[in-house]
Amino acid sequence: MVLVVPEDLLEAASGARENAYAPFSGFKVGAALRTASGLIITGANVENTSYGLSRCAEQSAVTAMVSEGDRSFCEIVICTEADPPVTPCGACRQILLEFSPEADLYTVGLSGAVRHYRVCDLLPDAFALDRHQG
Ligand code: THU
Repeated sequence: MVLVVPEDLLEAASGARENAYAPFSGFKVGAALRTASGLIITGANVENTSYGLSRCAEQSAVTAMVSEGDRSFCEIVICTEADPPVTPCGACRQILLEFSPEADLYTVGLSGAVRHYRVCDLLPDAFALDRHQG
């Protein structure tokens, strides 16, 4: 099956990647999501000299989405130079899942290779507080 990445999101993610601040890893990441209301929102990774304070592109995009007043997205594209394309880190999986478990996630390397997942498939049996309350 041929995977068709939403072109507008790929373009937005690629543009956001240019804005990444990654002087420590040298690994730039861009993300672009489409909110349920149809907005495109982007994020880039933002590193810090205190490494643990660094933020992934997916986290930046979700933070921007919530700040804009949206609470869910239907699809997200992640753009890096990796081949094969990266999959989101564990923390980002939890953050994405919080808002949009059913969303389509595409991750694209600069060579054009694509992988596709549903957000919920990236974090099976995830923690959710409401499942643990009487
Ligand atoms: N990074 C992301 O922004 N998203 C991912 O999916 C994987 C990793 C960032 C974190 C760090 O700034 C750099 O890539 C290297 O790990």
